[in-house]
Amino acid sequence: MTIAVYPGSFDPLTLGHLDIAKRASSIFETLYLAVMVNPHKSPLFTVEERLQLIEESVADIKNIKVVSFPGLLVHYASDIGAKVIVKGLRLVSDFESELQQATMNRQMLPSVETFFIPTNNHYSYLSSSIVKEIARHGGNIHEFVPAHVEAAVLQKYK
Ligand code: PNS
Repeated sequence: MTIAVYPGSFDPLTLGHLDIAKRASSIFETLYLAVMVNPHKSPLFTVEERLQLIEESVADIKNIKVVSFPGLLVHYASDIGAKVIVKGLRLVSDFESELQQATMNRQMLPSVETFFIPTNNHYSYLSSSIVKEIARHGGNIHEFVPAHVEAAVLQKYK
């Protein structure tokens, strides 16, 4: 049984994230979707809000568990016995920092491999930051996030 962890800030979850989560959950027996807590970032949503929005988005996928963790990803991966870290890869520009993280994570925890899943090209240029920027200026984010996430983002910028 292969346990995988898909980490991120998910501030908020986009359709690009959801696409990666769905595809990974069809490969691994259990996928932990982990909201990593970064005390140096000022997120739009609290961890609890993000967990709730994600829970609602993946409620129909039984092998996804939604969790949060305040520390190093490798510590969490080790705690849950994960063998795989899943990352979505959008553009070449993602590659350098993703390769750095994958290499450092493997150095710290050699039993865990990072698997990159190429993002659906419809979402190649999508990010949580862009979604927030569009919404902050009154743009339409309907095609980028699930409907309940759209409502929550609009509520924040009301
Ligand atoms: O959605 P993001 O912000 O691009 O995700 C980045 C994230 C949360 C996956 C990364 O920053 C992370 O793994 N943070 C946890 C702390 C950690 O393990 N840092 C060392 C990585 S080598």
